[in-house]
Amino acid sequence: MCSESVFLQDQLVQPIFIKESNTQSNTISGLGDNKLFNLKDGIKRIEDDLNLNCKNFILFPVQSEKNNKNFNVDFTNYAIKSIKDNFGSDLFMWIDLCICSLTKTGHCCIYKKQKMDIPLTLKALTKIAKEYSTSGVDGIAPSSMTPGIVKEVRKMLNKEKKELIPIMSYSTKFASNFYGPFREAADSAPQFGDRREYQLDVKSRKSAISSSIAYANEGADLLMVKPGLTSIDLISEIRQITKKPVGAYHVSGEFASLKILDKSKLINFDKATSEVWDTFKRAGAQYIISYAARHAKRIYFNG
Ligand code: PBG
Repeated sequence: MCSESVFLQDQLVQPIFIKESNTQSNTISGLGDNKLFNLKDGIKRIEDDLNLNCKNFILFPVQSEKNNKNFNVDFTNYAIKSIKDNFGSDLFMWIDLCICSLTKTGHCCIYKKQKMDIPLTLKALTKIAKEYSTSGVDGIAPSSMTPGIVKEVRKMLNKEKKELIPIMSYSTKFASNFYGPFREAADSAPQFGDRREYQLDVKSRKSAISSSIAYANEGADLLMVKPGLTSIDLISEIRQITKKPVGAYHVSGEFASLKILDKSKLINFDKATSEVWDTFKRAGAQYIISYAARHAKRIYFNG
């Protein structure tokens, strides 16, 4: 998935939202054909995507129940199993590892008396990751920005004899205004404060670089910058220092802005998207997460 010199369809990763309570699939404002699927429609969508030659997915499960701790991820485990039962090794299924759509607070960590409880958060996330790996997921993508999470998940995977499951770390993730459509979809907007306590300040280059270095040292196999366009200046330096593959996530708000401009006939969506992908490649990204990945053949590869 991480070729350096060429750009292949294989280097794109398609996000997919699957919602537990959905009897029918709902649209998400700004995200075009990226719907909140029920499991059945999600599986059908994946089948169509595979026929379009799109093979890498990152799953965002949206479960019904919210808790303060002791999160139940039965639905997600069932979704992973069903998808893998249907498609086996025809696809590579990453899972986003976070608790922001599971917590009552909408935060990516457990709060106790308004303070982040990192040990408890690590424990909860690692337990969830273990369940996901038992359910057959191909790769784990910790997105919560909890220091130590990559180390804990790697330790757990090795102990479970699942050393070959890769970890794609959201290693440089900024507190950003571009996650709006995603948070609406994942029902994960924070109920108090914001995410600046654990996500990075866009003004600090130093902490942006050192965050990726820290997760690389914890044992991440792949690193990532997010949002993509506001982070392109960081990719090469992170690659040079860590010697690990670095990808860019073209996030929901970035994608939606192109969709909305296209709808107003101010730009051409396909051409603008291919320009963005080329920009990521020029900046040194070795893979790209994009809400348009499934249309890569049409957009970029002259299908
Ligand atoms: C979960 C998570 C988020 C995104 C990916 N994983 C939301 C957030 O950090 O608030 C955003 C992705 C997007 O906007 O496309 N923590």
